[in-house]
Amino acid sequence: MRRTVLALGLLAGPGMAQDFAEVGALFADRCVMCHSGEDAPLGLRLDTLESVLKGSENGPVVVAGDGASPLLRRLRGEAEPQMPLDGPPFLDPAEIALVEGWVAAGMPAGEAVAAPAPERRRPAPGEPVLWPDVQPIFFKACIKCHSDNSKLEAPPEGLRLDSLENVLRGGDRLVVLPGNPEMSEIWRRVVGVAEPRMPFDGPPWLPEEDIRLIRDWIAQGAPDAGGVAAQIPVGARIRLRGTLTAEAEIDGAGFVIDGGTRVDDRPRIGGAAEMRGVVEADGTVRAERFRDR
Ligand code: HEC
Ligand code: HEC
Repeated sequence: MRRTVLALGLLAGPGMAQDFAEVGALFADRCVMCHSGEDAPLGLRLDTLESVLKGSENGPVVVAGDGASPLLRRLRGEAEPQMPLDGPPFLDPAEIALVEGWVAAGMPAGEAVAAPAPERRRPAPGEPVLWPDVQPIFFKACIKCHSDNSKLEAPPEGLRLDSLENVLRGGDRLVVLPGNPEMSEIWRRVVGVAEPRMPFDGPPWLPEEDIRLIRDWIAQGAPDAGGVAAQIPVGARIRLRGTLTAEAEIDGAGFVIDGGTRVDDRPRIGGAAEMRGVVEADGTVRAERFRDR
């Protein structure tokens, strides 16, 4: 029997899939890390044949025999952002042909195998939070704008959130100060202390639990997969805009004002303020400019 299937596969030409098995394996490898679970983008889950056929909140993504099906257009980059979203690399031509062949054949199930989605680890409060625990949040909710595969012309503020290195490097300025969530623009934006709140296309905003995970990850030093905390980015630039909550504190984020700080229209507690500063070796932030807004 298996022999017949293989022979048919050869007749159909290279790259032509006869059933969901190969397509499902490809999706398992390149898609389900994002397209699974309750927070699957646009509600599109690709972890079982049923969910693939069900499509997204916009409707079906594959239509039998239709070479212009939304999913195929995403793989070829005819609809943006191109999939897989974390590319490049995107799928190679043979892999795209495999999915095209399966759609052309009417999406036969065959001995359809599920592509089980990896279970996301959600550390409880007090437990260590590592990069792999927060990466799926950025992949599902942020990198469609904050990466080189952005659906915008360029990643806003030069900020890419598609790797640990890029998250720690920041864009035009620092967005994560390891050990200090209040001073980290990434947490300020997702919790809504700083505006515009992220994700920019929300609401919905991130679930409470994801916001807490980002906070805990930063508070624990923004550790990598192995638990090694990030280094203090000495000399990196930070900008805070918000409400002055103490003499030298914006929304609970304290900084140092000294003789070298240029102060324009000294802000009042309770009023709007902007601070531009630099990270010192001990992780404190020294204000270079401080003003009313
Ligand atoms: C890194 C996360 C990620 C990966 C990996 C990924 N996607 Fe997506 N995908 C998204 C996001 C986020 C969106 C929504 C983009 C938007 O809002 O424009 C999306 C949108 C789509 C859409 C559009 C659905 C619609 O209703 O228009 C299709 C189809 C799709 N993805 C298919 C795939 C396929 C097939 C793969 C694997 C080859 C894949 N994606 C891999 C995150 C991902
Ligand atoms: C739909 C596109 C889009 C999505 C999705 C999105 N952002 Fe943004 N992001 C923007 C834009 C546009 C700006 C610039 C807004 C401004 O300040 O005017 C921005 C700015 C930011 C900034 C400020 C950077 C700085 O240097 O001040 C941070 C931090 C940020 N985003 C984090 C995130 C995070 C985290 C997510 C996911 C939870 C996310 N964004 C999702 C479009 C997006």
